[in-house]
Amino acid sequence: MTNFAGSLRLGVNIDHVATVRNARGGAYPDPLRAAKLAQEAGADGITAHLREDRRHITDADIEGLMEVLTVPLNFEMAATEEMQAIALRHKPHAVCIVPEKREEKTTEGGLEVAREENKLAHYIAPLREAGCRVSIFIAADQKQIEAAHRIGAQVIELHTGAYCDAHAEGRFDARDAELERLREMSAFAHSLGLEVHAGHGLTYDTVQPVAAFPEVMELNIGHFLIGEAIFLGMTPAIAEMRRLMDEAREPV
Ligand code: PXP
Repeated sequence: MTNFAGSLRLGVNIDHVATVRNARGGAYPDPLRAAKLAQEAGADGITAHLREDRRHITDADIEGLMEVLTVPLNFEMAATEEMQAIALRHKPHAVCIVPEKREEKTTEGGLEVAREENKLAHYIAPLREAGCRVSIFIAADQKQIEAAHRIGAQVIELHTGAYCDAHAEGRFDARDAELERLREMSAFAHSLGLEVHAGHGLTYDTVQPVAAFPEVMELNIGHFLIGEAIFLGMTPAIAEMRRLMDEAREPV
């Protein structure tokens, strides 16, 4: 098997620095400062989700990130005309298309690609032409992966939320079944030539089994890391995640 050791990237999602800032409507804590610290602390990329309701990241944050980042920006967005126009204006390194429901607390599931194939194929074409790497956030489901491949996405990001929730709730049989599904689907997506990313809900306790999948090239982690940063500081919180990822990735 190809040795991918050392090639696992960490994308730090800074949305929830903006959540804390927006709780008071002022200027701090500043997500741009968090992004700069994260990149100094070893983040390989920064992820930010501009939601339709702007509940955390704002348009000005995206503009600022495009100006200050030296690592790639992974711009998470719903498949709307408004977001497409914003992405085409900024041309971030990557766009990750996610499902979005106004009432949800977080991105609850993966995108339904199979049923929306034609629409999504047309939607992502200009983004690809503009030079963005197009990633689709989906459940570990063969049908969705095949559809993502057919519409021309270069990357899929597998939703790890069900695995992390099962772990947190002590449903260990369900957790192991989810992990197995993630393992199989990472290998399947890789065999189609898709780059495989994963994320959602990952913590120090749950990151290693996913980081160990050789096909996974990037993990995107936010909420837990920003929470840990309150206690440890951004730099040590990220360094510990990086250490756990590298440890899981070491060839045995
Ligand atoms: N990947 C995607 C596509 C997401 O939508 C999110 C949440 O915004 C994450 C990763 C990060 O999830 P978490 O904040 O739970 O680590």
